[in-house]
Amino acid sequence: EKDLETQAPLFGKNVLVSAGPTYELLDPVRFIGNFSSGKMGIEIAKSALEMGANVTLVCGPSNISTSGYDLQRINVISALEMQKSMEDNYENADIVIMSAAVADYRPATKAEQKIKKNDENMTIELVKNPDILKGLGEKKTHQILAGFALETNNAMEYAQGKLEKKNLDLIVMNTLQDEEAGFQKDTNKITILPKEGDPISFQAKNKSEVAKDILTFILEKHIL
Ligand code: CTP
Ligand code: CA
Repeated sequence: EKDLETQAPLFGKNVLVSAGPTYELLDPVRFIGNFSSGKMGIEIAKSALEMGANVTLVCGPSNISTSGYDLQRINVISALEMQKSMEDNYENADIVIMSAAVADYRPATKAEQKIKKNDENMTIELVKNPDILKGLGEKKTHQILAGFALETNNAMEYAQGKLEKKNLDLIVMNTLQDEEAGFQKDTNKITILPKEGDPISFQAKNKSEVAKDILTFILEKHIL
């Protein structure tokens, strides 16, 4: 007789998920960040776990707890730290889902001490962060690689561009034009654009349901 556990759809698979924002430090007490809650990525991690996977969650600053869940959580602050953790765990992963809201730029320097106020105007020089997902796409061997795209306009066109440029197998698009989608929300409304085949749009749902839709799509479209 077959053990229940081994019948789980993602049994034995290693799933690597990133979630949350990144904080880019200016000095010991200040940062440039964004309003990502981490909710979407954490729901993906929990769903993957429910489906029997071994889950590694690389998580930027988020208040959402995963205690009581049997997953490996690696907390990071900045994009550079997130990149290192994703790369360290990449080779071992079967499915990689990059849902973090990575800051595109970071301050060129981090002051050792708290910056004092001075002139009326102040300029902060920023430098581009590495594109973590694009880097993973370039190194892809056996992994199924998925990204997210949050767009405000020309959503399909921009998402398709990212799918191709980053060598992804699929991209999950959501747009701020949909009031059910976005940061700090419990719901999301997504369209999945696969590398091959037509995009499919889903109804607005709770993020936990959206997470299941994404993983089910990957399971159905790919031979694992
Ligand atoms: N991403 C990443 N590293 C970055 C920026 C983005 O890994 N430095 C990932 C995100 O996690 C997401 C995907 O790339 O899965 C798309 O992110 P998005 O911000 O929509 O696209 P960008 O390529 O950053 O382009 P832009 O912000 O100019 O639209
Ligand atoms: Ca970006």
